[in-house]
Amino acid sequence: MKRIAVFTSGGDAPGMNAHVRAIERTGEKRGVEVIGIIGGYSGMILGHFEVLDRFRTANIIDRGGTVLKTSRCPEFEEVEGRIKAAHEIRKHGVDGIIACGGDGTFHGAHCMWQEHGIPIVGTPGTIDNDLWGTDFTIGYDTAINTAAQAIDKIRDTADSHGRLFFIEVMGRHAGFIAMDVGIACGAEYVAVPETLTDIDELYQRILTQGLDKRTVVIVGEGDELGGAMGISKKLEERYGVSSKISILGHIQRGGSPTVRDRVLASRLGAASIDALLEGKTDIMVGEMSGQITHVPLEKTWVERKPVPSYLTDLAYILV
Ligand code: F6P
Repeated sequence: MKRIAVFTSGGDAPGMNAHVRAIERTGEKRGVEVIGIIGGYSGMILGHFEVLDRFRTANIIDRGGTVLKTSRCPEFEEVEGRIKAAHEIRKHGVDGIIACGGDGTFHGAHCMWQEHGIPIVGTPGTIDNDLWGTDFTIGYDTAINTAAQAIDKIRDTADSHGRLFFIEVMGRHAGFIAMDVGIACGAEYVAVPETLTDIDELYQRILTQGLDKRTVVIVGEGDELGGAMGISKKLEERYGVSSKISILGHIQRGGSPTVRDRVLASRLGAASIDALLEGKTDIMVGEMSGQITHVPLEKTWVERKPVPSYLTDLAYILV
């Protein structure tokens, strides 16, 4: 294997740049040329390829976003789109690919191997931490720290005014971010997509706290009652309780990566090149209990990664 391409795809995640840097550096050491595909699967279809070297990847380890850019690409979900992409991969003499992203990215990668026999490994790059086969995903640690900083600030004003706040965090269908920041910020209640939210129980919790006191409720965006807006509305309809809503949104995806994310991104970058050189394909390279893992791509979305029960139990005790 002489030429390996890397791309970032789906929602960007802090640490993706550290990851690309590590892949380029490892490639140099192993005598492999590393190509960057610009703009995720869209860039692959359009043939936007660029040779990476240590100068192009210098001074990016601390930068948020992704210098390779990213996209959500409906065209790649179609067979024809993937044929075009495979054509570009072959035209550029690429022997193997590293796809950094979440489950959508991995579905695409799996198809590239199945339909075109192009060796490909995935690396977990998403703030959601919702991929089975790795303890943490690149970007998660930064996202929870960013969210916690914002929540601490909101708690100050909630406390001064004695207000009820619903603060919505990202995570699509997973409650990892909500649960971790809920515990870290001393929230009075945490609503996650994995469990049904009980409005009556929530109201009792608010009463215990005191209707004129600060109450901070963290809500995962995928909560079945419709996120922070939905819960706030239901509470008002049933009990006449008014509240403030704060949706943290994309702030959670940006910013300089934490040390943990930089180290994880660097380690998985080096390990992904080595996996391809060992002949591995159609796998995700992750990390569990400090060890590098190789798990079939399909398993990362077929198996559901639960929010650890020790976290939910702890939240229940502490709120
Ligand atoms: O998967 C990462 C994520 O930030 C989710 O938490 C969120 O639901 C989604 O991406 C938002 O995607 P977009 O930026 O494309 O709207």
